[in-house]
Amino acid sequence: MMSSERDARVYQLYEQLREIEQRLIPTGLHVFGRAAELKEKADLLRMVASFDRPELGAQALPRLVAEGLQLALDEQPFQDTVESETKALIDEIVTESINRLCDEDCEAAVNLLMSRANVDREKARTTCTLLANISDQLEASFELESLMRALRGEYIQPGPGADIIQNPLVLPTGRNTHAVNPYSIPSRSAFQRAKQTTEALLHRYREEHGRYPRAMALVLWGLDNIKTQGEGVAQALWLLGVRPVRDALNRATEIEVIALEELNRPRIDVVMTVSGIFRDLFAPTMALLDKAVRRVAELNEPPEMNYVRRNVTERMNEAASPFDDAVTRVFSNAPGNYGTNVNFMVMQSEWEDATSLGDLFVTRKSFAYTRDSQGRTIEGREARELMDDALSRVEATYQNIDSFEVGITDVDHYFEYLGGVSRAVEVRSKSRPAIYLSDSLSPQTKIRSLEETVRLETRTKTLNPKWYEGMLRHGFRGVAEIENHVANTFGWSATADAVDSWIYTEISNTFLLNEEMLERLIELNPYSVQSLAKRLLEAHERGYWNPDENLLEQIRELVDKVKESSRS
Ligand code: BEZ
Ligand code: MG
Repeated sequence: MMSSERDARVYQLYEQLREIEQRLIPTGLHVFGRAAELKEKADLLRMVASFDRPELGAQALPRLVAEGLQLALDEQPFQDTVESETKALIDEIVTESINRLCDEDCEAAVNLLMSRANVDREKARTTCTLLANISDQLEASFELESLMRALRGEYIQPGPGADIIQNPLVLPTGRNTHAVNPYSIPSRSAFQRAKQTTEALLHRYREEHGRYPRAMALVLWGLDNIKTQGEGVAQALWLLGVRPVRDALNRATEIEVIALEELNRPRIDVVMTVSGIFRDLFAPTMALLDKAVRRVAELNEPPEMNYVRRNVTERMNEAASPFDDAVTRVFSNAPGNYGTNVNFMVMQSEWEDATSLGDLFVTRKSFAYTRDSQGRTIEGREARELMDDALSRVEATYQNIDSFEVGITDVDHYFEYLGGVSRAVEVRSKSRPAIYLSDSLSPQTKIRSLEETVRLETRTKTLNPKWYEGMLRHGFRGVAEIENHVANTFGWSATADAVDSWIYTEISNTFLLNEEMLERLIELNPYSVQSLAKRLLEAHERGYWNPDENLLEQIRELVDKVKESSRS
């Protein structure tokens, strides 16, 4: 190996370790009515402090420190181009100031920033005051009091719903989460942020495939688009190459086409599967997305620069399909229905083969929401054949993750949606799509493949002692959470075959073959231990994991043994 190649690999490894180390994870469950027991409060505050908050007049701490030290940093203080020593120095001062803030007070943090980094006093004070308020609010809890008020039929103060890091104004908890005005979606800043994410996504696909994807399938959720003010929606608009336009009442109801010269790339076709909650909350937004696809399909542009037009024209020619059918791209459940049921099939082990999971996804989600050329609104018309056709052209699938708190192995919803649609695409296009996720939470956008995301989640949560010990503090429920993570990980095998076999091996080693751990788990919750062990055996039986026979035998014996102990 050339030494430059070796250096590059070592650097890659270093970056991966750093990513794992810096990943913020929940280290325990929330207990209703109890203030957040955040051992990692300083970590959380540091994340909060890494974003500018123009709406609150506060600048990011790393930026203030860089400014004070007169380090010429560009827009993104954490980019790789910045010398790592500079990065380390800034990190160190930021960390120290936050420790001061937690251990002493706001003034102590301000003084440190002034003496160590020459930060302007007023600017430092604005940011530190904000952080100190958040710190106080993390220790307050109004949940029980609010519940009592609700039960008495009294008024409960509303507050925004979001991730703390995205919007610290969600604190204190115990308020009534309010949604958004759907006509305000996407917000201007969400549209701006989505540009960066969309470019990173297309860049990643091109790096791996040498060209743009002809069509992408996107998953859009309601709560996520509330929390991010419509980042997912904005990403779809960017892929199409359009921007939202506000009418006289400031409602985003119109579309403006971004010229190809400005866009500088082809328009990507998008198939959108939206959740039942999204459908219920965002009817005007669905109309906007549908309008955007139709507008783009009608543009007189060369097919190699407008994949929507290319695909729609192909469909019209191949299947003698009317334009109104060929252009259908916004799908959801039948009115009144929710979810894909893919998660239930997987959890109950009641599926024959992976194809049936993709089919189930389409059965549940193939209801079209559109407005035809005559202006007639169609709300939830079954359109299975149209969805099959649209998915058959898809080459990449994608979902935006909106929160540090809930990732792809924490709940079964990510695999039911993104896994479900990916499997449906694989069968219909006869090729496995590239599957990507991003989290819009770091100051720099990072696109990851599904496989990379499963590895990262496994290393930072399921196999991380900090995470599982945090769960085990909750006893019975904690073991159930560990088992849930294993089942959700398995969901990514079932729907997308995206789990490395070392992951199942290490789960066995950590929770079942370590005798001391096994005893603790059985003591706390034998039922979940048994489900966990059975799930590992299922991973083997379904062909996702092939450990040596000896290991399998140990797990089989354990299932029997635990059965006995849970009876007694
Ligand atoms: C949603 O907000 O749309 C959603 C929430 C939970 C599961 C799936 C979707
Ligand atoms: Mg649920």
